[in-house]
Amino acid sequence: MLIDTYDRVATDLRVSLTDRCNLRCTYCMPEEGLQWLAKPDLLSDDEIVRLVRIAVTQLGITEVRFTGGEPLLRPGLVSIVEQCAALEPRPKMSLTTNGIGLKRTAAALKAAGLDRVNVSLDTLRPDVFKTLTRRDRHHDVLAGLEAARDAGLTPVKVNTVLMPGLNDDEAPDLLAWAVDNAYELRFIEQMPLDAQHGWKRDGMITAGDILQSLRTRFDLTPEGQDERGSAPAERWLVGGGPHRVGVIASVTRPFCRACDRTRLTADGQVRTCLFAREETDLRGALRSDAPDQEIARIWRLAMWGKKAGSGLDDPSFLQPDRPMSAIGG
Ligand code: GTP
Ligand code: 5AD
Ligand code: SF4
Repeated sequence: MLIDTYDRVATDLRVSLTDRCNLRCTYCMPEEGLQWLAKPDLLSDDEIVRLVRIAVTQLGITEVRFTGGEPLLRPGLVSIVEQCAALEPRPKMSLTTNGIGLKRTAAALKAAGLDRVNVSLDTLRPDVFKTLTRRDRHHDVLAGLEAARDAGLTPVKVNTVLMPGLNDDEAPDLLAWAVDNAYELRFIEQMPLDAQHGWKRDGMITAGDILQSLRTRFDLTPEGQDERGSAPAERWLVGGGPHRVGVIASVTRPFCRACDRTRLTADGQVRTCLFAREETDLRGALRSDAPDQEIARIWRLAMWGKKAGSGLDDPSFLQPDRPMSAIGG
């Protein structure tokens, strides 16, 4: 079991498969990209599967989320999913992606054993998409979303970050579109995890702003947290249901007390929190032939050091050294 000193048990493992991305969202990374991890520093496919096996068989992990950067850029993704699906007990598996490339891979991912996907989409307007992501790929994301739904990678969740002056007027339109297309839309408060360290609390669109904007057009009934009770989204039924909308209010309504997550970066470091300032190296242990029990022991010890929360409200809050794309959202 992965337990911390606040009695939280981690059952959800988030695995970053690459720090690279084919978009350049302004709230994430600069136009020129970042200094990417070198190939030899990345965990190999076999190393990833071994760590997932240890997590599932020895540490009580029941859900595995593949993230990035952009996880569809990882050539071995389908095979990694297939090997993880063969584990006993079989973990639930999902993917958080920007959706480009899903059109090509959705069916293969489903066949390999992936259960569902979350896709990032911030706008319905191709020109705004181009400004926000610095790439002209809006059409590819929409095609990827449809492919995921058609392949049965459901429920397909859509993640939206609203940025002042760019897409903050789109919340009701996005919800109408999501309801029509049977996607579960979640709005995410922007967090201080951008590589440029440009986040400002003052400029941020809050959960309160988002709900106010949605209520101009929709009746929303609170439904609370999702099935697990620990996922970050608070959810509302739209017009009495069955459609839902979620808000992930990491900044204004933190959910750290119910956190059930542990994270693995693409270069094999355990992070106990998105906002942790420490990492624990597992790659070194893997590559010095440590037995499974030893790797499990190091991981348990790392979790024992997990902090109470993100620290976002502390006056002394410091943004983590690595940006979201390198940690794995
Ligand atoms: P599901 O609802 O189960 O699909 O999970 P999820 O919402 O956690 O997944 P997703 O990868 O789509 O993440 C959505 C947003 O929540 C992203 O902005 C993540 O960075 C953020 N998020 C995920 N885990 C955490 C966490 O532990 N803490 C905080 N503050 N934010 C998180
Ligand atoms: N704050 C909040 N969400 C972010 N994402 C990327 N950067 C940030 C940030 N600074 C979102 C992406 C994606 C999810 C994994 O996290 O849009 O949907
Ligand atoms: Fe890529 Fe996601 Fe960062 Fe956008 S937010 S640049 S899609 S990693």
